[in-house]
Amino acid sequence: MVLNSEQDRDMIEVIPTGKALGAEIRGVDLSRPLEPADVQSLLDAWTEHLVLLFRGQYISDPELISFSRIFGDLDPCPPNALGKQHSAEHMELAIVSNVIVDGEPLGSLGDCELRWHTDMSNHPVPPKASILHALEVPPEGGETEFCNMYAVTQELPQHLRAAIEGKWAHQDGGLDSAGAPHRAVEIDGVRREPPSAQHPLMRLHPDTGRPVLYLGRRPNQYIVGMDADESDALLDELWEHATQDKYVWTHEWIVGDIIVWDNRCAMHRRNAFPSAARRTLHRTQVTGEAIIAA
Ligand code: OGA
Ligand code: MN
Repeated sequence: MVLNSEQDRDMIEVIPTGKALGAEIRGVDLSRPLEPADVQSLLDAWTEHLVLLFRGQYISDPELISFSRIFGDLDPCPPNALGKQHSAEHMELAIVSNVIVDGEPLGSLGDCELRWHTDMSNHPVPPKASILHALEVPPEGGETEFCNMYAVTQELPQHLRAAIEGKWAHQDGGLDSAGAPHRAVEIDGVRREPPSAQHPLMRLHPDTGRPVLYLGRRPNQYIVGMDADESDALLDELWEHATQDKYVWTHEWIVGDIIVWDNRCAMHRRNAFPSAARRTLHRTQVTGEAIIAA
């Protein structure tokens, strides 16, 4: 039998989680370059489901980096807690790990809970996507949860929608998602403090044109131009609405999993895990675009 290349290829399957967001993709081997048609299928599935899961991907760092580039250009990774590049070979690679080697942490974020956030909301142009590849996972804990901010926005109570119209929020750079102080970075001998930014609370998703609530992160957050107590009360109500179980999908990691999330319309958090267990993921992030107010 003669197979043409079209029939020869594995068919990509998109299997929704059945929760508010997320889909597993089957039938792709991310160690190999993808056909343009497959890239388009993945991008379409990503637009529809916001978070994609690929299982059984035992790939190298260069392969992870090549795959990540289908979503766009990659940001260089900011230095770790010791002020060093995470990976000596690949400036695009960050390491999320609680493992200590010779007294030095292998990566960042430890073993604690990470509170709900979108990545780098304290930057003027936050990444549009983040990608994690699981290399070591704990026997329990360390699950990552994602929240569908389109659904949150659609069901936003009218009084909250009215209260935030045209409003911007201060996104503080003081603490990372683990609650640890963000370190200043030295670039070419110049010390730079972690930035803070102000972003519209309602933004337009650049690919779908849909309005989406952009909460970023809660510590030290305030709504620009609003009385502090009023701002706190409103933000608490927005965060409570956004983080209801009905908007969430919880992912339990297996070694070889890759997850890609859209940082513009999904928030995420992580459960703590036992400090005696090892958890290591390699991470890339895709350069975002200027945030447009809705
Ligand atoms: C991140 C992050 C979650 C996790 O890398 O941005 O929030 O599960 N990680 O480690
Ligand atoms: Mn994060």
